[in-house]
Amino acid sequence: MDALRQKYLDAIAAVSEEAGLEDLRVQAVGKKGEVSLKMRELGKMTPDERQVAGPKLNALKDEINSALAAKKAALADAALDERLRTEWLDVSLPGREARQGTIHPISQVTEEIIAIFADMGFAVAEGPQIENDWYNFDSLNIPPHHPARQEFDTFYMHRDAEDDRAPHVLRTHTSPVQIRAMEKTGAPIRVIAPGRVYRSDYDQTHTPMFHQIEGMAIGEDISMANLKWVLEEFFAAFFEIDGIKTRFRASHFPFTEPSAEVDIQCSWVDGQLRIGEGDGWMEVLGSGMMHPKVLQAGGVDPEKWQGFAFGIGIDRLAMLKYGIPDLRAFFDSDLRWLRHYGFASLDQPNLARGLSR
Ligand code: DAH
Repeated sequence: MDALRQKYLDAIAAVSEEAGLEDLRVQAVGKKGEVSLKMRELGKMTPDERQVAGPKLNALKDEINSALAAKKAALADAALDERLRTEWLDVSLPGREARQGTIHPISQVTEEIIAIFADMGFAVAEGPQIENDWYNFDSLNIPPHHPARQEFDTFYMHRDAEDDRAPHVLRTHTSPVQIRAMEKTGAPIRVIAPGRVYRSDYDQTHTPMFHQIEGMAIGEDISMANLKWVLEEFFAAFFEIDGIKTRFRASHFPFTEPSAEVDIQCSWVDGQLRIGEGDGWMEVLGSGMMHPKVLQAGGVDPEKWQGFAFGIGIDRLAMLKYGIPDLRAFFDSDLRWLRHYGFASLDQPNLARGLSR
């Protein structure tokens, strides 16, 4: 026993790392350690021998355990001393600024619009930004030589001479998603489709890329009255102004009959755009009852089903709601502008809490 004691106390004293200490513990007092094995031999002794050897073995085990603990504490102290000696921190240095990005107003407004329509039972649908001309035009009752094709200022994709696929365009509106959603789900259906659209146009209220949200509801007894209610409900929630003034103007789109364009009351004061006042109007959406040919193109029977559809300019709505006078600034990536008009990332649009900050 004395030999065991000396062996382990010496070994513990010589150890210089915590890992070595753990090896020693296993060797000496672990389940199959030397001291533990000795303790098992107690069973084979006579009662008298056991009375002498038992307490001694226990004392040896305790002694080794305390030597291990003391050494462990000493090693930890030494390690801390070493760190304190070599590492230092100048607490008088100025702090580093935590940079926080902002959510672009377009993203924020898109989320706001989705939240409002989700509350009215509309699901979100998507379609490609590079669309073939059947989805973008023909299926929407705009045949090849229809004047509406010229009005759209379409960007056509380059095509090699031997390429015999249908011509592809950058979609000029989100309306082709109507067809894709009908193909996918059939009727009845209630969807909105937010996304980027493209037209060759550029001034204070037009950019070659901008954003729309398409809406579509098909059922067996959907009417223009449902359309008007849904849109007025939407505007009141979006602008958080009960009874905000809107103007429904009879209009024409190839894909709807009858059709209406909707304007929001607004004014420009010292280059500042204000909504809900003044005698100006800003057009924000086109809408109408879906043309039977459009339903048919989507595989929906116009004898049984009817629906309304609308297309909202998201950028226009963002300008109106947040008083942003120039559409082009949305896409300039000017950091000062983005910090000023951007939203905090945790500012999630939520109908219950109010939509805007
Ligand atoms: N697609 C039209 C545009 O971009 C907007 C539009 C008008 C969409 C009427 C519709 C609609 O769904 O019914 O100018």
